[in-house]
Amino acid sequence: MKDSSNLLFDLVLFGGTGDLAMRKLLPALYQLYRTTPFHSQTRIIAVGRTATSKEAFLHRVQDKLEQHLPADSWDRVSWQQFSKHLNCIAIEADKTESYRELIPLLDDDDRPRTFYFSTHSSLYTAIASSLGALGLINANARVVLEKPIGRDLGTAKTISGQMSNYFTESQIYRIDHYLGKETVQNLLVLRFANPLFESLWNHHYIDHIQITISEAIGVEGRGEFYEETGALRDIVQNHLLQLLCMLAMEPPANIEPDRIRDEKLKVLYALQPLLGDDISRYVVRGQYAPGTIAGKPCTGYTEEEGVAENSTIETFVAMKVMIDNMRWSGVPFYLRTGKRLPNRSCEIVVQFKEVPHWIFDTPRGQLMSNQLVITLQPDESITLRLCGKRLGPGIDVRTIDLNLNPKSRGNKRSADAYERLLLDVIKGDQTLFLRQDELEQAWHWVDPILETWERTTSPPEHYASGSWGPAGSTLLLAKDGRLWFEGANGQGN
Ligand code: BG6
Repeated sequence: MKDSSNLLFDLVLFGGTGDLAMRKLLPALYQLYRTTPFHSQTRIIAVGRTATSKEAFLHRVQDKLEQHLPADSWDRVSWQQFSKHLNCIAIEADKTESYRELIPLLDDDDRPRTFYFSTHSSLYTAIASSLGALGLINANARVVLEKPIGRDLGTAKTISGQMSNYFTESQIYRIDHYLGKETVQNLLVLRFANPLFESLWNHHYIDHIQITISEAIGVEGRGEFYEETGALRDIVQNHLLQLLCMLAMEPPANIEPDRIRDEKLKVLYALQPLLGDDISRYVVRGQYAPGTIAGKPCTGYTEEEGVAENSTIETFVAMKVMIDNMRWSGVPFYLRTGKRLPNRSCEIVVQFKEVPHWIFDTPRGQLMSNQLVITLQPDESITLRLCGKRLGPGIDVRTIDLNLNPKSRGNKRSADAYERLLLDVIKGDQTLFLRQDELEQAWHWVDPILETWERTTSPPEHYASGSWGPAGSTLLLAKDGRLWFEGANGQGN
Protein backbone atom coordinates (compact mmCIF):
# COMPACT_ATOMS: atom_id res chain seq x y z
CA MET A 1 0.00 0.00 0.00
CA LYS A 2 1.25 3.52 -0.77
CA ASP A 3 2.56 5.33 2.33
CA SER A 4 0.18 8.22 1.63
CA SER A 5 -2.86 6.00 2.24
CA ASN A 6 -1.50 4.66 5.53
CA LEU A 7 -2.61 5.91 8.95
CA LEU A 8 -0.85 9.19 9.75
CA PHE A 9 -1.16 10.57 13.28
CA ASP A 10 0.67 11.76 16.38
CA LEU A 11 -0.22 10.22 19.71
CA VAL A 12 1.19 11.51 22.98
CA LEU A 13 0.56 9.04 25.76
CA PHE A 14 0.76 10.58 29.24
CA GLY A 15 1.24 7.74 31.73
CA GLY A 16 3.00 6.06 28.80
CA THR A 17 5.20 3.87 30.99
CA GLY A 18 2.41 2.96 33.43
CA ASP A 19 0.36 -0.16 33.93
CA LEU A 20 -2.49 0.62 31.52
CA ALA A 21 -0.12 1.65 28.73
CA MET A 22 1.92 -1.53 29.08
CA ARG A 23 -0.99 -3.94 29.55
CA LYS A 24 -3.56 -2.52 27.16
CA LEU A 25 -2.68 0.62 25.16
CA LEU A 26 0.64 -0.33 23.58
CA PRO A 27 -0.52 -3.90 22.79
CA ALA A 28 -3.66 -2.38 21.21
CA LEU A 29 -1.57 0.03 19.11
CA TYR A 30 0.63 -2.85 17.96
CA GLN A 31 -2.48 -4.81 16.90
CA LEU A 32 -3.83 -1.73 15.15
CA TYR A 33 -0.53 -1.40 13.30
CA ARG A 34 -0.81 -4.99 12.06
CA THR A 35 -4.32 -4.51 10.65
CA THR A 36 -4.05 -0.87 9.55
CA PRO A 37 -0.49 -0.03 8.55
CA PHE A 38 0.88 3.25 9.86
CA HIS A 39 2.37 5.99 7.69
CA SER A 40 6.16 6.01 8.03
CA GLN A 41 5.93 9.44 9.76
CA THR A 42 3.40 8.35 12.42
CA ARG A 43 4.67 9.01 15.94
CA ILE A 44 3.70 7.53 19.29
CA ILE A 45 5.34 9.38 22.15
CA ALA A 46 5.14 7.74 25.57
CA VAL A 47 5.50 10.26 28.37
CA GLY A 48 6.74 9.02 31.74
CA ARG A 49 7.79 10.71 34.95
CA THR A 50 11.39 9.56 34.95
CA ALA A 51 13.95 9.60 32.18
CA THR A 52 14.71 6.25 30.60
CA SER A 53 16.71 5.42 27.49
CA LYS A 54 14.78 4.62 24.31
CA GLU A 55 16.47 1.24 24.23
CA ALA A 56 15.36 0.34 27.77
CA PHE A 57 11.84 1.56 27.01
CA LEU A 58 11.56 -0.52 23.83
CA HIS A 59 12.93 -3.52 25.65
CA ARG A 60 10.24 -3.18 28.31
CA VAL A 61 7.45 -2.69 25.76
CA GLN A 62 8.59 -5.78 23.86
CA ASP A 63 8.51 -7.82 27.07
CA LYS A 64 5.00 -6.61 27.88
CA LEU A 65 3.70 -7.23 24.37
CA GLU A 66 4.99 -10.78 24.46
CA GLN A 67 3.34 -11.22 27.84
CA HIS A 68 -0.05 -9.66 27.05
CA LEU A 69 -0.70 -10.44 23.38
CA PRO A 70 -2.17 -13.74 22.23
CA ALA A 71 0.73 -15.92 21.02
CA ASP A 72 -0.48 -15.86 17.40
CA SER A 73 -0.42 -12.04 17.30
CA TRP A 74 3.23 -11.63 18.18
CA ASP A 75 5.80 -11.59 15.41
CA ARG A 76 9.27 -10.14 15.43
CA VAL A 77 9.09 -8.48 12.01
CA SER A 78 5.91 -6.56 12.87
CA TRP A 79 7.43 -5.57 16.21
CA GLN A 80 10.58 -4.24 14.57
CA GLN A 81 8.51 -2.14 12.15
CA PHE A 82 6.06 -0.99 14.83
CA SER A 83 8.82 -0.04 17.28
CA LYS A 84 10.16 2.50 14.76
CA HIS A 85 7.08 4.62 15.54
CA LEU A 86 7.71 4.59 19.31
CA ASN A 87 9.54 7.21 21.29
CA CYS A 88 9.66 8.05 25.01
CA ILE A 89 10.33 11.23 26.92
CA ALA A 90 10.18 12.34 30.57
CA ILE A 91 7.93 15.20 31.66
CA GLU A 92 7.12 16.52 35.12
CA ALA A 93 3.36 16.99 34.96
CA ASP A 94 3.32 20.25 36.92
CA LYS A 95 6.31 21.91 35.22
CA THR A 96 5.33 23.59 31.95
CA GLU A 97 8.98 24.00 30.96
CA SER A 98 9.46 20.25 30.86
CA TYR A 99 6.83 19.98 28.09
CA ARG A 100 9.07 21.91 25.70
CA GLU A 101 10.59 18.66 24.50
CA LEU A 102 7.29 17.97 22.77
CA ILE A 103 7.49 21.07 20.56
CA PRO A 104 9.94 19.77 17.93
CA LEU A 105 8.23 16.38 17.97
CA LEU A 106 4.80 17.85 17.18
CA ASP A 107 5.74 19.90 14.13
CA ASP A 108 2.93 18.89 11.78
CA ASP A 109 -0.36 20.73 12.34
CA ASP A 110 -2.25 18.91 9.60
CA ARG A 111 -2.41 15.43 11.04
CA PRO A 112 -4.63 14.21 13.92
CA ARG A 113 -2.85 14.93 17.19
CA THR A 114 -4.09 12.88 20.11
CA PHE A 115 -3.17 13.51 23.72
CA TYR A 116 -4.06 10.45 25.79
CA PHE A 117 -4.31 11.17 29.53
CA SER A 118 -3.72 7.85 31.23
CA THR A 119 -2.64 9.32 34.55
CA HIS A 120 -4.46 10.05 37.78
CA SER A 121 -7.30 12.42 36.86
CA SER A 122 -6.04 15.00 39.39
CA LEU A 123 -3.22 15.70 36.88
CA TYR A 124 -5.46 16.30 33.85
CA THR A 125 -5.75 20.04 34.36
CA ALA A 126 -2.02 20.58 34.88
CA ILE A 127 -1.23 18.64 31.70
CA ALA A 128 -3.85 20.46 29.60
CA SER A 129 -2.77 23.87 30.85
CA SER A 130 0.90 23.24 29.99
CA LEU A 131 0.00 21.94 26.54
CA GLY A 132 -2.19 25.01 26.06
CA ALA A 133 0.48 27.42 27.31
CA LEU A 134 2.98 26.05 24.77
CA GLY A 135 0.49 26.28 21.91
CA LEU A 136 0.40 22.52 21.34
CA ILE A 137 -3.40 22.24 21.28
CA ASN A 138 -4.28 22.99 17.66
CA ALA A 139 -7.51 22.49 15.67
CA ASN A 140 -6.54 18.88 14.93
CA ALA A 141 -5.90 18.06 18.57
CA ARG A 142 -8.08 15.79 20.64
CA VAL A 143 -7.76 14.49 24.17
CA VAL A 144 -8.65 11.08 25.56
CA LEU A 145 -9.53 11.06 29.26
CA GLU A 146 -9.21 7.75 31.08
CA LYS A 147 -11.69 6.83 33.78
CA PRO A 148 -12.42 7.36 36.59
CA ILE A 149 -12.68 11.06 35.77
CA GLY A 150 -12.77 12.63 39.23
CA ARG A 151 -13.73 11.02 42.53
CA ASP A 152 -17.31 12.31 42.65
CA LEU A 153 -19.63 14.74 40.91
CA GLY A 154 -17.86 17.81 42.31
CA THR A 155 -14.37 16.83 41.17
CA ALA A 156 -15.67 15.57 37.80
CA LYS A 157 -17.35 18.94 37.20
CA THR A 158 -14.18 20.80 38.13
CA ILE A 159 -12.13 18.72 35.69
CA SER A 160 -14.74 19.16 32.94
CA GLY A 161 -14.83 22.91 33.50
CA GLN A 162 -11.06 23.16 33.33
CA MET A 163 -10.79 20.93 30.25
CA SER A 164 -13.25 23.17 28.45
CA ASN A 165 -10.74 26.02 28.74
CA TYR A 166 -8.43 24.11 26.40
CA PHE A 167 -10.57 21.73 24.34
CA THR A 168 -14.04 21.94 22.79
CA GLU A 169 -16.51 19.15 23.61
CA SER A 170 -15.95 17.67 20.13
CA GLN A 171 -12.24 17.33 20.97
CA ILE A 172 -12.82 15.45 24.25
CA TYR A 173 -13.01 11.64 24.21
CA ARG A 174 -14.04 10.24 27.61
CA ILE A 175 -13.14 6.62 27.23
CA ASP A 176 -14.91 3.61 28.73
CA HIS A 177 -13.23 0.64 27.10
CA TYR A 178 -16.24 -1.61 27.72
CA LEU A 179 -18.06 0.31 24.97
CA GLY A 180 -15.32 -0.78 22.56
CA LYS A 181 -15.99 -4.47 23.06
CA GLU A 182 -17.37 -6.12 19.93
CA THR A 183 -20.44 -7.59 21.63
CA VAL A 184 -21.52 -4.23 23.05
CA GLN A 185 -21.85 -2.86 19.53
CA ASN A 186 -23.49 -6.06 18.43
CA LEU A 187 -26.05 -5.36 21.13
CA LEU A 188 -27.17 -2.26 19.23
CA VAL A 189 -27.74 -4.36 16.12
CA LEU A 190 -29.36 -7.19 18.02
CA ARG A 191 -31.80 -4.82 19.73
CA PHE A 192 -32.57 -2.37 16.94
CA ALA A 193 -32.34 -4.51 13.80
CA ASN A 194 -34.43 -7.43 15.07
CA PRO A 195 -38.12 -6.74 15.62
CA LEU A 196 -38.22 -10.12 17.33
CA PHE A 197 -36.24 -8.75 20.28
CA GLU A 198 -37.35 -5.15 20.21
CA SER A 199 -41.01 -6.08 20.59
CA LEU A 200 -40.22 -8.17 23.69
CA TRP A 201 -37.71 -5.74 25.21
CA ASN A 202 -39.86 -4.34 28.04
CA HIS A 203 -41.53 -5.05 31.37
CA HIS A 204 -44.31 -7.09 29.73
CA TYR A 205 -41.91 -9.86 28.75
CA ILE A 206 -38.68 -9.40 30.71
CA ASP A 207 -38.55 -10.61 34.32
CA HIS A 208 -35.15 -9.16 35.21
CA ILE A 209 -31.66 -8.53 33.85
CA GLN A 210 -28.32 -9.46 35.41
CA ILE A 211 -24.98 -7.92 34.48
CA THR A 212 -21.81 -9.40 35.96
CA ILE A 213 -18.21 -8.30 35.51
CA SER A 214 -16.03 -10.75 37.38
CA GLU A 215 -12.27 -10.91 37.61
CA ALA A 216 -10.08 -13.66 39.02
CA ILE A 217 -7.18 -11.26 39.54
CA GLY A 218 -6.77 -9.14 42.66
CA VAL A 219 -5.51 -5.56 42.60
CA GLU A 220 -2.23 -6.70 40.99
CA GLY A 221 0.24 -4.14 42.33
CA ARG A 222 -2.35 -1.33 42.02
CA GLY A 223 -3.09 -1.33 45.75
CA GLU A 224 -2.55 2.42 46.14
CA PHE A 225 -4.84 3.23 43.21
CA TYR A 226 -7.48 0.87 44.52
CA GLU A 227 -7.37 2.31 48.02
CA GLU A 228 -8.46 5.63 46.51
CA THR A 229 -10.89 4.13 44.07
CA GLY A 230 -12.70 0.92 45.08
CA ALA A 231 -14.98 -1.13 42.86
CA LEU A 232 -17.85 1.37 42.83
CA ARG A 233 -15.71 4.07 41.20
CA ASP A 234 -13.55 1.66 39.20
CA ILE A 235 -16.26 -0.46 37.56
CA VAL A 236 -19.83 0.41 38.60
CA GLN A 237 -19.86 4.18 37.90
CA ASN A 238 -18.60 3.58 34.38
CA HIS A 239 -18.49 0.06 32.87
CA LEU A 240 -21.58 -1.37 34.57
CA LEU A 241 -23.72 1.75 34.14
CA GLN A 242 -22.71 2.03 30.49
CA LEU A 243 -23.69 -1.58 29.82
CA LEU A 244 -26.97 -0.95 31.60
CA CYS A 245 -27.59 2.10 29.38
CA MET A 246 -26.91 0.15 26.19
CA LEU A 247 -29.39 -2.51 27.32
CA ALA A 248 -32.10 -0.18 28.54
CA MET A 249 -32.02 2.81 26.19
CA GLU A 250 -34.78 3.66 23.73
CA PRO A 251 -34.05 3.30 20.00
CA PRO A 252 -32.06 6.35 18.89
CA ALA A 253 -33.23 8.20 15.75
CA ASN A 254 -29.98 7.20 14.05
CA ILE A 255 -26.51 6.08 15.05
CA GLU A 256 -24.92 9.51 15.20
CA PRO A 257 -22.85 9.87 18.38
CA ASP A 258 -25.12 12.44 20.00
CA ARG A 259 -28.33 10.57 19.25
CA ILE A 260 -26.96 7.47 21.05
CA ARG A 261 -25.62 9.57 23.90
CA ASP A 262 -28.98 11.35 24.27
CA GLU A 263 -30.71 8.00 24.78
CA LYS A 264 -28.13 6.71 27.25
CA LEU A 265 -28.46 9.92 29.23
CA LYS A 266 -32.24 9.44 29.51
CA VAL A 267 -31.63 6.04 31.13
CA LEU A 268 -29.28 7.62 33.67
CA TYR A 269 -31.95 10.24 34.46
CA ALA A 270 -34.50 7.47 34.98
CA LEU A 271 -32.40 5.43 37.44
CA GLN A 272 -34.27 5.24 40.74
CA PRO A 273 -32.05 7.03 43.26
CA LEU A 274 -30.58 4.83 45.98
CA LEU A 275 -30.76 6.88 49.17
CA GLY A 276 -30.90 6.38 52.95
CA ASP A 277 -31.79 2.85 54.08
CA ASP A 278 -32.17 1.68 50.47
CA ILE A 279 -28.40 1.70 50.22
CA SER A 280 -27.89 -1.03 52.81
CA ARG A 281 -30.99 -2.82 51.48
CA TYR A 282 -30.04 -2.86 47.81
CA VAL A 283 -26.26 -2.43 47.64
CA VAL A 284 -23.79 -5.01 48.91
CA ARG A 285 -20.12 -4.20 49.33
CA GLY A 286 -17.51 -6.84 49.88
CA GLN A 287 -13.76 -7.22 50.24
CA TYR A 288 -11.74 -10.28 49.33
CA ALA A 289 -10.17 -12.37 52.08
CA PRO A 290 -7.61 -15.16 51.55
CA GLY A 291 -8.78 -18.16 49.57
CA THR A 292 -7.95 -20.35 46.59
CA ILE A 293 -8.41 -19.80 42.85
CA ALA A 294 -7.73 -22.63 40.39
CA GLY A 295 -5.92 -24.54 43.13
CA LYS A 296 -3.61 -21.62 43.97
CA PRO A 297 -3.72 -19.96 47.41
CA CYS A 298 -4.42 -16.20 47.31
CA THR A 299 -3.86 -13.54 49.94
CA GLY A 300 -6.57 -11.20 51.19
CA TYR A 301 -6.97 -7.58 50.00
CA THR A 302 -5.52 -6.07 53.18
CA GLU A 303 -2.30 -8.03 52.67
CA GLU A 304 -1.73 -6.44 49.24
CA GLU A 305 1.08 -3.93 48.80
CA GLY A 306 -0.08 -0.34 49.26
CA VAL A 307 -3.26 -1.34 51.11
CA ALA A 308 -3.97 -0.32 54.71
CA GLU A 309 -4.32 -3.27 57.06
CA ASN A 310 -7.68 -1.95 58.28
CA SER A 311 -8.87 -0.85 54.83
CA THR A 312 -12.63 -0.76 54.28
CA ILE A 313 -12.36 -0.31 50.51
CA GLU A 314 -14.71 -2.53 48.53
CA THR A 315 -13.43 -4.99 45.95
CA PHE A 316 -16.93 -6.32 45.29
CA VAL A 317 -20.27 -4.63 44.69
CA ALA A 318 -23.68 -6.15 43.98
CA MET A 319 -26.76 -3.99 43.60
CA LYS A 320 -30.39 -3.98 42.59
CA VAL A 321 -31.24 -1.08 40.32
CA MET A 322 -34.68 0.00 39.12
CA ILE A 323 -35.40 2.20 36.12
CA ASP A 324 -38.41 4.46 36.51
CA ASN A 325 -39.80 4.71 33.01
CA MET A 326 -42.58 3.20 30.92
CA ARG A 327 -40.43 0.45 29.43
CA TRP A 328 -38.74 -0.85 32.56
CA SER A 329 -41.08 -0.17 35.44
CA GLY A 330 -40.88 -3.09 37.90
CA VAL A 331 -37.95 -4.86 36.15
CA PRO A 332 -34.91 -5.21 38.42
CA PHE A 333 -31.43 -4.88 36.96
CA TYR A 334 -28.98 -6.75 39.18
CA LEU A 335 -25.40 -5.52 38.76
CA ARG A 336 -22.37 -7.26 40.20
CA THR A 337 -18.62 -6.90 39.99
CA GLY A 338 -15.71 -8.19 41.99
CA LYS A 339 -12.06 -9.08 42.06
CA ARG A 340 -10.78 -12.51 43.06
CA LEU A 341 -13.96 -14.25 41.94
CA PRO A 342 -13.70 -17.75 40.41
CA ASN A 343 -13.06 -16.55 36.84
CA ARG A 344 -12.80 -13.59 34.49
CA SER A 345 -16.04 -13.05 32.70
CA CYS A 346 -18.52 -10.43 31.67
CA GLU A 347 -22.00 -11.66 31.12
CA ILE A 348 -25.45 -10.18 30.63
CA VAL A 349 -28.45 -12.40 31.25
CA VAL A 350 -31.84 -11.21 30.05
CA GLN A 351 -34.36 -13.40 31.83
CA PHE A 352 -37.76 -13.47 30.12
CA LYS A 353 -40.96 -14.08 32.04
CA GLU A 354 -42.49 -17.53 32.32
CA VAL A 355 -45.43 -18.52 30.13
CA PRO A 356 -48.56 -17.65 32.13
CA HIS A 357 -49.80 -21.25 32.19
CA TRP A 358 -47.65 -24.41 32.01
CA ILE A 359 -49.32 -27.40 30.35
CA PHE A 360 -46.51 -29.99 30.49
CA ASP A 361 -45.70 -32.63 33.09
CA THR A 362 -42.01 -31.65 33.21
CA PRO A 363 -41.52 -29.24 36.16
CA ARG A 364 -40.62 -25.85 34.72
CA GLY A 365 -38.27 -24.22 37.24
CA GLN A 366 -36.25 -21.08 36.59
CA LEU A 367 -34.37 -22.55 33.64
CA MET A 368 -37.54 -23.15 31.64
CA SER A 369 -38.02 -19.46 30.88
CA ASN A 370 -36.32 -18.01 27.84
CA GLN A 371 -32.99 -16.35 28.42
CA LEU A 372 -30.73 -14.30 26.24
CA VAL A 373 -27.17 -14.68 27.48
CA ILE A 374 -24.74 -12.13 26.11
CA THR A 375 -21.13 -12.93 26.97
CA LEU A 376 -18.50 -10.24 26.43
CA GLN A 377 -15.58 -12.20 27.83
CA PRO A 378 -13.60 -14.36 28.05
CA ASP A 379 -15.12 -15.32 24.66
CA GLU A 380 -17.72 -13.25 22.91
CA SER A 381 -20.99 -15.03 22.36
CA ILE A 382 -24.73 -14.61 22.30
CA THR A 383 -26.94 -17.53 23.26
CA LEU A 384 -30.69 -17.71 23.18
CA ARG A 385 -32.12 -20.31 25.52
CA LEU A 386 -35.40 -21.80 24.34
CA CYS A 387 -37.48 -24.79 25.33
CA GLY A 388 -37.77 -27.86 23.12
CA LYS A 389 -38.93 -31.46 23.30
CA ARG A 390 -36.52 -34.15 24.39
CA LEU A 391 -36.17 -36.84 21.67
CA GLY A 392 -38.17 -39.96 22.42
CA PRO A 393 -41.59 -41.00 23.61
CA GLY A 394 -43.87 -38.65 25.57
CA ILE A 395 -43.42 -34.91 25.88
CA ASP A 396 -40.48 -34.12 28.05
CA VAL A 397 -39.42 -30.46 27.92
CA ARG A 398 -35.76 -29.51 27.96
CA THR A 399 -33.80 -26.36 27.28
CA ILE A 400 -32.06 -25.82 23.96
CA ASP A 401 -29.32 -23.27 23.43
CA LEU A 402 -29.34 -21.43 20.14
CA ASN A 403 -25.82 -20.21 19.65
CA LEU A 404 -25.39 -16.88 17.87
CA ASN A 405 -21.66 -16.85 18.54
CA PRO A 406 -19.84 -14.78 15.88
CA LYS A 407 -16.86 -17.16 16.00
CA SER A 408 -19.01 -20.06 14.86
CA ARG A 409 -19.78 -17.97 11.75
CA GLY A 410 -16.11 -18.17 10.87
CA ASN A 411 -15.28 -14.56 11.79
CA LYS A 412 -11.69 -13.38 12.00
CA ARG A 413 -10.11 -12.08 15.20
CA SER A 414 -12.26 -9.29 16.55
CA ALA A 415 -10.41 -6.11 17.44
CA ASP A 416 -9.58 -5.51 21.09
CA ALA A 417 -11.66 -2.76 22.73
CA TYR A 418 -8.77 -0.30 23.04
CA GLU A 419 -7.64 -1.01 19.47
CA ARG A 420 -11.09 -0.12 18.13
CA LEU A 421 -11.44 2.97 20.32
CA LEU A 422 -7.97 4.31 19.50
CA LEU A 423 -8.82 4.06 15.81
CA ASP A 424 -12.09 5.90 16.46
CA VAL A 425 -10.18 8.72 18.17
CA ILE A 426 -7.73 9.00 15.28
CA LYS A 427 -10.66 9.09 12.84
CA GLY A 428 -12.62 11.53 15.01
CA ASP A 429 -15.63 9.31 15.77
CA GLN A 430 -17.11 10.01 19.24
CA THR A 431 -19.95 7.45 19.14
CA LEU A 432 -18.44 5.12 21.72
CA PHE A 433 -17.25 7.85 24.10
CA LEU A 434 -19.11 9.55 26.94
CA ARG A 435 -20.44 13.06 26.80
CA GLN A 436 -19.91 15.35 29.79
CA ASP A 437 -23.59 15.25 30.84
CA GLU A 438 -23.57 11.43 30.89
CA LEU A 439 -20.47 11.39 33.06
CA GLU A 440 -21.95 13.89 35.48
CA GLN A 441 -25.30 12.11 35.71
CA ALA A 442 -23.53 8.81 36.46
CA TRP A 443 -21.62 10.47 39.30
CA HIS A 444 -24.81 12.15 40.50
CA TRP A 445 -26.44 8.73 40.90
CA VAL A 446 -23.42 7.06 42.51
CA ASP A 447 -22.47 9.89 44.91
CA PRO A 448 -25.02 9.16 47.70
CA ILE A 449 -23.72 5.58 47.90
CA LEU A 450 -20.12 6.77 48.14
CA GLU A 451 -21.04 9.34 50.79
CA THR A 452 -22.92 6.77 52.87
CA TRP A 453 -20.02 4.32 52.71
CA GLU A 454 -17.56 7.03 53.67
CA ARG A 455 -19.62 7.80 56.79
CA THR A 456 -20.34 4.23 57.84
CA THR A 457 -18.33 2.53 60.54
CA SER A 458 -19.32 -1.00 59.53
CA PRO A 459 -16.73 -2.84 57.40
CA PRO A 460 -17.50 -4.43 54.02
CA GLU A 461 -18.52 -8.11 54.09
CA HIS A 462 -15.53 -10.36 53.56
CA TYR A 463 -15.58 -13.14 50.99
CA ALA A 464 -13.08 -15.88 50.36
CA SER A 465 -10.98 -15.40 47.21
CA GLY A 466 -12.34 -17.82 44.65
CA SER A 467 -15.95 -17.55 45.85
CA TRP A 468 -18.75 -15.61 44.13
CA GLY A 469 -18.67 -12.81 46.70
CA PRO A 470 -20.19 -12.31 50.13
CA ALA A 471 -23.36 -13.98 51.39
CA GLY A 472 -25.16 -10.63 51.12
CA SER A 473 -24.93 -10.86 47.33
CA THR A 474 -26.73 -14.20 47.20
CA LEU A 475 -29.26 -12.86 49.69
CA LEU A 476 -29.95 -9.77 47.57
CA LEU A 477 -31.47 -11.98 44.87
CA ALA A 478 -32.81 -14.63 47.23
CA LYS A 479 -35.04 -11.96 48.82
CA ASP A 480 -36.66 -11.60 45.38
CA GLY A 481 -36.84 -15.40 44.89
CA ARG A 482 -34.03 -15.34 42.31
CA LEU A 483 -30.51 -16.68 41.80
CA TRP A 484 -27.41 -15.30 40.12
CA PHE A 485 -26.51 -17.14 36.94
CA GLU A 486 -22.97 -18.37 36.62
CA GLY A 487 -21.50 -19.03 33.19
CA ALA A 488 -23.27 -19.35 29.86
CA ASN A 489 -24.79 -22.64 30.98
CA GLY A 490 -26.97 -20.62 33.32
CA GLN A 491 -26.33 -22.54 36.52
CA GLY A 492 -27.37 -20.55 39.59
CA ASN A 493 -24.95 -20.33 42.51
C1 BG6 B 1 -10.43 -1.29 34.25
C2 BG6 B 1 -10.30 -1.32 35.76
O1 BG6 B 1 -11.21 -0.20 33.85
O2 BG6 B 1 -11.03 -2.49 33.80
C3 BG6 B 1 -9.53 -2.54 36.21
O3 BG6 B 1 -9.63 -0.15 36.20
C4 BG6 B 1 -10.11 -3.81 35.61
O4 BG6 B 1 -9.54 -2.64 37.64
C5 BG6 B 1 -10.28 -3.65 34.10
O5 BG6 B 1 -9.22 -4.87 35.89
C6 BG6 B 1 -11.02 -4.83 33.50
O6 BG6 B 1 -11.03 -4.69 32.10
P1 BG6 B 1 -11.22 -5.97 31.17
O7 BG6 B 1 -11.40 -5.43 29.79
O8 BG6 B 1 -9.98 -6.80 31.33
O9 BG6 B 1 -12.43 -6.67 31.69
